[in-house]
Amino acid sequence: MSYRLWIYRWGCWLCLVSATTARLDAEDSANVPSKYPDGPLGEVVRLGETLVNQTKDHPLSKPFVGNQLNCTSCHLDGGTHPSAGSFLQTAAAYPAWSPRENRVITLEDRVLNCFMRSQNGTRPPNGSQVSVAITAYITWMSSGSPIEMNPRKPLGPRHVPELQFDWTKANATQGEEDYKTYCLDCHGQDGLGTADGPPVWGPQSFNDGAGLSRVPKMASWLKVGMPLGDPSLTEQEAADIAAYINSHQRPKFKLEQHLPPQEKLGEYNAEPNSR
Ligand code: HEC
Ligand code: HEC
Repeated sequence: MSYRLWIYRWGCWLCLVSATTARLDAEDSANVPSKYPDGPLGEVVRLGETLVNQTKDHPLSKPFVGNQLNCTSCHLDGGTHPSAGSFLQTAAAYPAWSPRENRVITLEDRVLNCFMRSQNGTRPPNGSQVSVAITAYITWMSSGSPIEMNPRKPLGPRHVPELQFDWTKANATQGEEDYKTYCLDCHGQDGLGTADGPPVWGPQSFNDGAGLSRVPKMASWLKVGMPLGDPSLTEQEAADIAAYINSHQRPKFKLEQHLPPQEKLGEYNAEPNSR
């Protein structure tokens, strides 16, 4: 084989290999990494995984939770679900601009916000074991993703896509019928939950400062997440059921009730009355 042909063959073989590797990398970044990091970092990542799955019961996170939900109640399969509250690739979008807080926030801040609102609990201190472990777990799940910070909102590339729908057409009365058909078995007639599903309204649910308390966000999440294992609602059904669920009482969000004592707060400078 001539020298030139050799270069051509091997050069091309190499470029094929690198093209394939690049493609695999892109796919890999959408998957859970196959291996935990070595050493103490791996232990912290595993702890974060446990906390995401057992948030309301684990002794480290329980003190900061005010309802019967775990992170995995909404971030399905511990955040490994590709669309219903996915944590895959999420860390790549942070630090991100938060219009609500009128400042740039970190992934850790974002985690702590879900404690205050979706978990109806108290904001754990920045840098606390619980906060670092969960943030490490979510960051690990973004391994291989190129960093692409989000200048518009604190959301990662796989956040729940918001349905394009005329929300004035969401009908809570029809939603009640659909809820009985598709949801009641697991979430209960009274919405307070059963052994097969957590509460969707009432005192043990998320508060009215949480994303899911807004009908468009709830409907969009239902469309990709519920009924569990068989998300098959039409857009109209998702909108109607979301309107029905959110017509019920749930805890009221008052920011000052969800902050720890000042000396445990670290730097948190959102507007005092920000919703
Ligand atoms: C009641 C449901 C619910 C619970 C419980 C919940 N979250 Fe969330 N979380 C949401 C919703 C809704 C969003 C917005 C996601 C979207 O629009 O895709 C969100 C967003 C996030 C984000 C930003 C995601 C992104 O794409 O940038 C992080 C990180 C997060 N939550 C972490 C947590 C952690 C950690 C816990 C447990 C301590 C938790 N959440 C509990 C509903 C919940
Ligand atoms: C087979 C049982 C089952 C069915 C049917 C079901 N869910 Fe769920 N749902 C669950 C479970 C379990 C979770 C928590 C996920 C986890 O822990 O893995 C959940 C989580 C939720 C959540 C977020 C957490 C919370 O409690 O606020 C909402 C909202 C929800 N479901 C609404 C619905 C709606 C609306 C329907 C009907 C369209 C429905 N579900 C059907 C079992 C079910």
